[in-house]
Amino acid sequence: MRFLLLVIFAATLILGAGVIRDVWSTLAPDETRPVPRDRALAARGRPLYRQHCADCHGPKLGGERQAPGGARPAPPHDAAGSTYEKPDAGLLALIRDGKGRMPAFGDTLDARQRRAVLAFIKRHWTSAQYQQQFVLSRAEWQERLDGTGADGGRP
Ligand code: HEC
Repeated sequence: MRFLLLVIFAATLILGAGVIRDVWSTLAPDETRPVPRDRALAARGRPLYRQHCADCHGPKLGGERQAPGGARPAPPHDAAGSTYEKPDAGLLALIRDGKGRMPAFGDTLDARQRRAVLAFIKRHWTSAQYQQQFVLSRAEWQERLDGTGADGGRP
């Protein structure tokens, strides 16, 4: 009986932490705070990606081979691409404002939805790519916040 209570207690702690993390990652969606690849957040991003991004960036995030009229093709966002080399602030701004053939989504998707799509994209990176990009994003974010620069921590 005591063991059962302990198991229930441990399960509550673990589930509770997940819920808190989820709430933390979806509340107060300012536009540059680094986006964790939280499972729940990414699950909200998946249908948005399918609807708004997959036509160009591919249903499996593999990008476009060719673009109409010799324009710049939409780059891949998977582990074979190089999206993970750029920090979140720049990616989020690009999704909001567009660039070249890439449409601006500032009016179609709100800030929270744009973060959810990015979380979905991040689930396609290797964990090393994800960690590296998160550290980069956080360093840039902290620099902007207080001018002190990176703490080199982990997500
Ligand atoms: C009409 C085609 C099209 C659609 C739809 C589209 N994109 Fe793009 N996207 C592009 C192109 C083309 C580029 C390259 C822009 C450039 O650098 O000239 C790009 C670039 C990007 C980049 C920058 C990648 C990098 O490595 O610099 C991100 C991030 C991105 N798109 C995310 C999205 C997201 C998220 C959506 C959906 C909400 C989306 N795109 C929808 C065509 C598209």
